[in-house]
Amino acid sequence: MVMATAAVDRFQPTHFDKNHLLVKKNYFFDQYYQHNGALIAKQLIGDALRQRVESIDHESCEPGDEDTFFVGDLGEVYRQHMRWKKNLPRVKPFYAVKCNPDPKVIQLLAGLGTGFDCASKAEIEQVLNMGVDPTRIIYAQPCKTNSYVRYVANQGVKQMTFDNADELRKIAKLFPDAELFLRILTDDSSSLCRLSLKFGASLDSTDDLLALARDLGLNVVGVSFHVGSGASDPLAFRKAVQDAKTVFDQAYSYGFDLKTLDVGGGFSGDTFEQMAHTLRKALDEYFPPHINIIAEPGRYYVSSAFTIACNIIARRTIENPATGEASYMAYINDGLYGNFSSIMFDHQHPVAKVLSSGMRTYYNTPLADGLPESVNAGIEYSIWGPTCDGIDRITESIRFAQELDVGDWLYFEDMGAYTKCSATKFNGFSDSHDVIYICSEPGARAIMDF
Ligand SMILES: Cc1ncc(COP(=O)(O)O)c(C=O)c1O
Repeated sequence: MVMATAAVDRFQPTHFDKNHLLVKKNYFFDQYYQHNGALIAKQLIGDALRQRVESIDHESCEPGDEDTFFVGDLGEVYRQHMRWKKNLPRVKPFYAVKCNPDPKVIQLLAGLGTGFDCASKAEIEQVLNMGVDPTRIIYAQPCKTNSYVRYVANQGVKQMTFDNADELRKIAKLFPDAELFLRILTDDSSSLCRLSLKFGASLDSTDDLLALARDLGLNVVGVSFHVGSGASDPLAFRKAVQDAKTVFDQAYSYGFDLKTLDVGGGFSGDTFEQMAHTLRKALDEYFPPHINIIAEPGRYYVSSAFTIACNIIARRTIENPATGEASYMAYINDGLYGNFSSIMFDHQHPVAKVLSSGMRTYYNTPLADGLPESVNAGIEYSIWGPTCDGIDRITESIRFAQELDVGDWLYFEDMGAYTKCSATKFNGFSDSHDVIYICSEPGARAIMDF
């Protein structure tokens, strides 16, 4: 609160001319609301976590009452959308449902007017059932299941991607009226999850594919690409946009009237402005304003919106006879086969923090954080999932000031992307966990009726 007031105090209109003042005003307002929104979010997330863990007594609760749970901040999804609109005003996002098909996230984004990138019949059905018009969906899977193609043809979901000749023949047979996006190969070497090994037509094959599409009487309406999920090199976007322009020109020569470029996903919260800047410049350089630009962001929208809380269900003491000190293996009720599947599949490194120990809660305080590696202080822990598999380890080594025991809680932030969607039931543990929703933005509250 003190910092928020300071930001407002700096917002004095006296010594700027009119236009300059406007810029400064917006800048300070942005800073103020961003900061204030984040403060409110922390408060609400902390309250939700605290209330839930205080309501559970692990000594007497029913089986599963102490299960892992999420706190989802819809306000954070809303803020990410506003940030998108500010930095990429020309690009309409089609949220990649696969990243986190949370129904409230979909409902909010539907209310905000985004489109949706779906990979399967179930995702398309989920989005259609929310009342979203089929024209706001792209079936962005270049290698589709026959029966799903028949399904989308019946539902009127026309937009879909392809990247090979067999798929074109499939579409010609099952859905000749489809609106096709030719997905091209990208340099995804800077990304966390590379996709180009599996998908994307190389530039030396696009000419033949367009010729075949024309011969089959199909309707190619755009080009798509994906620079890899968790991409870190903005130049990958620039190169992909240049390549897409080459394919647009090829397509025009075959008589196709291409209207849309789909720049895929690959955006992350921490590098977004930099990526957006390069992408925006490339788009303006290569694509005139009458070309529609869409994107398929997933991680960007949801990663920071979800926090997970996990209970310590068992502890093993490891004595070190040389030092006389004890370290601990802490076993929690979620792991690599559950919501921490992101460690395996998404190359993530979730960071444990102490939520509560005994009767005290530490959320968002210095005592929640692990001690720096360099300081040989506190107590050392390794953190393990609940299954019988030895690879089910979340953290190899972390030090906390407190001695943690069974019944205490840990939390992990930034757990919204590629987490619960790829959880399994291995060893009989649940793959579906409660989400407590909060909403730290009035704009999102209005849409969600909170
Ligand atoms: C076709 C497609 N579009 C969009 C995405 C979402 O990517 P991201 O989460 O990096 O934005 C993916 C992720 O794998 C994808 O395969």
